[in-house]
Amino acid sequence: MINSIIQEGNKYTMNTYKRLPIAFVEGKGSYLTDTEGNQYLDMISGLGACGLGHSHSVVTKAIKEQAEKLMHVANIYWIKEQVELGKLLVENSFGDKAFFCNSGAEANEAAIKLARKYAYKKYGDHKNEIIAMTSSFHGRTIGTLGVTHNKKYQEGFGPIPKGFKFATFNDIDSLKEAITENTCGIMMEPIQGEGGVTAADPTFLKEVKAICEEMDILLIFDEIQCGIARTGKLFAYENYGIEPDIMTLAKALGSGFPIGAVIAKEEVAQAFKPGDHGTTFGGNPLACSCALATMKFIIEEKLWEQVEKTAGYFEEELKQLINRYAWVKKVKGKGLMVGLELEIEGSFIVEEAFKEGILINCTAGKVLRFLPSLVLEEKDVKKTVEVLNKIFQEVEGKQCMAI
Ligand SMILES: Cc1ncc(COP(=O)(O)O)c(C=O)c1O
Repeated sequence: MINSIIQEGNKYTMNTYKRLPIAFVEGKGSYLTDTEGNQYLDMISGLGACGLGHSHSVVTKAIKEQAEKLMHVANIYWIKEQVELGKLLVENSFGDKAFFCNSGAEANEAAIKLARKYAYKKYGDHKNEIIAMTSSFHGRTIGTLGVTHNKKYQEGFGPIPKGFKFATFNDIDSLKEAITENTCGIMMEPIQGEGGVTAADPTFLKEVKAICEEMDILLIFDEIQCGIARTGKLFAYENYGIEPDIMTLAKALGSGFPIGAVIAKEEVAQAFKPGDHGTTFGGNPLACSCALATMKFIIEEKLWEQVEKTAGYFEEELKQLINRYAWVKKVKGKGLMVGLELEIEGSFIVEEAFKEGILINCTAGKVLRFLPSLVLEEKDVKKTVEVLNKIFQEVEGKQCMAI
């Protein structure tokens, strides 16, 4: 069956993804089953989107019940589930108001527009520049490419809109140099994902926050990958003792169902007036019911505490690999947003792990990335590390790299 899916996929779908030769038909918790009946341990959970794992009962129940009642109405009416989700997010974060959309890139587009509109209303149209960080990833729309640092994503798609520039992540002097009187926003992932699973330095973030306050620059945190309990707190900013002015969410917010959100402080949110921004599907009853069920479960269960515990165990296990193999350099990230930095290219290790029934990923060339579900069990951590150990042993045995 898989061969015909691949053949027809090549014929009928655009060639935008480098895919492994597999298709899944079922998922439960941290496990996926393919078309041939083989089981895989999913340590990447749909690139961090399936926060509660596959087909968690609170999510499937919410979808079934809401789908039978009402799936979609336009935003020209009030949407009860959207209001409830907004209230829950606001009551559990720094923010005062929420806007809903369908994806991460869309949430970042809205955040950029909001920051510009806020500055425009207060200072005029010169204050429109957004500074993003080196190694950032904020999406693939034409606007978000402007704040995504890696040039490979931009090549062939220019012109990219103006008004974006970059400062070196975790380097306050570089940021100070980039700031001008035209800067309206500083945008970053508190823990970078695609760029190599790198956490912001706490001192750097405190200094950034102080500059933002002094110069009335909005601090925009992209928590699309690192938010929603993944880092051992409900939101990643809580690890740093500072608050952004705007935060974007997506991925795990709907635990596999597409939804994005922008959360902002009242004064900032006020910049949007009817007609300034919108989207047809954003915040519809079905998407919001799904996110509401996900978020209620996470908050009631204080799932971030379990994440912190599992993450601690994972880190200890990975450190043993560092002790054993000289070319395995360090554990990166925070909570269950985990990177294992190697001195060698990681993509073939992803392929080897796949052959052993474990789904992982590699980013920034040499960083193995794990974004498992938040309900990951310790036995699955153990299994992952055992498989990695076996692969690493084989790598050394074959001496297919300079050690
Ligand atoms: C930090 C971050 N921002 C934005 C995005 C874009 O989200 P989406 O793919 O939902 O547009 C991603 C996706 O990987 C991400 O990791």
